[in-house]
Parts: sequence; structure tokens; C-alpha cells
Amino acid sequence: MGKYRIAWLPGDGIGNDVMEAARIVLNRARLDAEYIHGDIGWEFWRTEGDAFPQRTIDLLKNVDAAMFGAITSKPVKAAEAELVPALRGKELVYRSPIVRLRQMFDLYNCLRPCKAYPGNPLNFKEGIDLVVFRENTEDLYAGVEFNPVPPDLAAMLARLSKPFGVFKDLPGDQYAVSCKVNTKRGSERIVRAAFEFAKQHRRKKVTIVHKANVVRATDGLFFEQARKVAREYPDIPVDDANVDAICMWLLKNPFSYDVLVAPNLYGDIISDLAAQMVGGLGFGCSGNIGKTLAVFEPSHGSAPKYAGQYKVNPIATILAARMMLDWLGEKQKAAAIEEAVAAVIKEGTVRTYDMGGTATTLHMAEAIAAHMPD
Ligand code: NAI
Ligand code: MG
Repeated sequence: MGKYRIAWLPGDGIGNDVMEAARIVLNRARLDAEYIHGDIGWEFWRTEGDAFPQRTIDLLKNVDAAMFGAITSKPVKAAEAELVPALRGKELVYRSPIVRLRQMFDLYNCLRPCKAYPGNPLNFKEGIDLVVFRENTEDLYAGVEFNPVPPDLAAMLARLSKPFGVFKDLPGDQYAVSCKVNTKRGSERIVRAAFEFAKQHRRKKVTIVHKANVVRATDGLFFEQARKVAREYPDIPVDDANVDAICMWLLKNPFSYDVLVAPNLYGDIISDLAAQMVGGLGFGCSGNIGKTLAVFEPSHGSAPKYAGQYKVNPIATILAARMMLDWLGEKQKAAAIEEAVAAVIKEGTVRTYDMGGTATTLHMAEAIAAHMPD
């Protein structure tokens, strides 16, 4: 038995390809770990009506950390149509397993570093180094949604909310409601995680991202909590920006930003933007971090059109493995992986298709492994 128990969840689509690649690098790092496969993904939805079966949930209760590839998600009706015939008409409702996993294990901190490694032909500009902290369990992803809208909910909203007046006479099947739920506790702890990171890593600034001027209740609460936390860190410069404005500012002045913290949806959006600035989805890695469990993954999805072709870039997943080692306290091994990734990018001889090259997913992983010390 190894020192660590790691749940290994490839998922589906290119999740399988990139996880196989990440394993080459982890093996090379000689992490003393036992990797335990867990079933998750579209196939289990189709055949069992559950993309995140109970046996996988049980596995996650008994591991130190997990690596996750990617999964396919489809809208409710399309998902129902792909069930095996025996499961159709049973009112099974598809919900994204990764969102469920984050909520079930309270993985509240979605950490997404976006660093431009020198020499990457896909860098928007050399030297970009952003870290996004995305709240990961609430906000518009809370899952409190109605389509159609039940009459008693409509009646209550009509009674309590003046702006709802313009919708109140619509039949329930003519509109939908998704509730944005943000708590003081949830807002406080993600902002604290961002400031603690800034303090530990001597980062130059924390930017609070919101839309509090329009979405006054929820974003107002988030911003208020963020300002409270910021006051506890007087040595760390802080500013704030509306989510729309920050998309523009990040492109215009990327070097004016450093650590960014945002509620769930805005964090999702700005982290894709930041990932694109450092090479695209093939480079965006992500940690879903809670108190006792953390799950590491590439930010990209299952890219079904490339599934099984060993064509996509595994660097995002390899950098996610590096984050996992960091979180486990294996700092030296983590640094060795990052240095090897940086070296391969800088040399520029091994490149996957997105970087303009012809190397396969596994070839890239082998090149990275070859740069790691014995
Ligand atoms: P996607 O991230 O799977 O792919 C979009 C495009 O980005 C690909 O067609 C490809 O051109 C490029 N790309 C993605 N990963 C790459 C890599 N490693 N190297 C090089 N290029 C890469 O997003 P899409 O197409 O919107 O979604 C496909 C499926 O994935 C959907 O079912 C979606 O719901 C799911 N998804 C799952 C996520 C997860 O598992 N955490 C996250 C995002 C989407
Ligand atoms: Mg996303």
C-alpha cells in the first residue's frame, strides 16, 4: 500500500486520454501512491441512470485526494433521450456529476492558476501570471431551479417582489427561474482563501470580481463580505471590478492583475478567459479544494470530437497533478513537474496540435517525464 490513496476518475471523452498522460508523469515522479479507479461519466448515466454512482461517492470518502479527467454533460431532455430503453420514462434527471461532487464534499475553493510559460506560442503575452479563486458550491450553480415555474412560487414572488410584476401573468411553462444563492459563510471563506494565498505567495494584489451595482442582493452580500475579509489583510493591496469590466481590463492590462476572487459563475467565466491568455484550455488546470478532500482536474471538458485520438494537450491535466502534489505537501515533486513542463514548452520541439505541432497526448507526457530528475 502506498502512502497516499488517490481516486482516479478519468470520466469520458478526452478525459481518458489526458489522464493516461498524467499518469506517465506521476509515475515518473515516483509518488508513493495507490491509484484507485472510480466510475464517473456519461456511460454510467446512460446505462445506470446515474453519472456519479454511489460506489464512486463511497470511494471518495476514503481517499486523500482525487484526479478527475472530464465528463460530458447534456441538457436535461437530450440526456433523457440517451438513456438505455429500460431507464426511460422513470423521471431520472441528469445533473452534472462534477457540480454534485463539489457540493457533496463541500469543495468550496476552486483554484485556477493561469501562468504563461515562456516560449508557449499560444501565450497572449509573455509573463502573464494570474490566479483565479472561484467560489465552487453556491451562486447560480446551487441547483435551485424551476422550469416550468410552479404556481405557488409565482404567487409568492408576485407578493414579495415588485420587479416580478412584469412576469407574474405568464403561464409557468413560458419562463424559467434559476436562483442565485450566495451565503455570507460561502463568500467569506473563498475570499479568505484568496487572501491567504496572496499572503503566503507574496502576491501583489487581490481583485474582487462582482456585479454588485446590478445584482444587488447576492453580489452586494459577496462584495460586503469580501471587503470585511480584506480589512484583515491590510498589507495586501486590494481592488474590485465588475465582471464585465474585468474581461476587458484583463485583456488590456493583464499585468495589472494578480489574484482574482469571484462568485461561482463569474469565476467560471474569467478563469476560461485567463486560461485562453496563457495558451487555451490545454493549459488551464483546476483544484476543487475542501477541508478534507481535494479533486484536481483540467478546466476543459470532454471534447467528444477528439475522444480516444490521443491528440489533445495533456499539459492542463499534468499541471493539475502538480497542484495535487502541492496540496498533499509533496512540494519537491510538484516543483519537478512544473519545471519539466516549463522546459518542454521552452524547448518547443514537442508540441501538440493546439500549439501548432504534431506530438500526441502521450508523446507530450513522455517528453515531460523525460525532463524530470531521477
Ligand atoms: P471542451 O472543453 O470539451 O472543448 C472545447 C474545445 O476546446 C475542443 O473542441 C478543443 O478544440 C479544445 N480543447 C479542449 N481541451 C483541449 C485540450 N486538452 N487540448 C487542446 N484543445 C482542447 O468544451 P465543450 O466542447 O464546450 O464541451 C464538451 C463537453 O464537455 C460537454 O458535454 C460539456 O458539458 C463538458 N464539459 C465538462 C467539463 C468537466 O468535466 N469539468 C467542463 C466543461 C465542459
Ligand atoms: Mg468552465
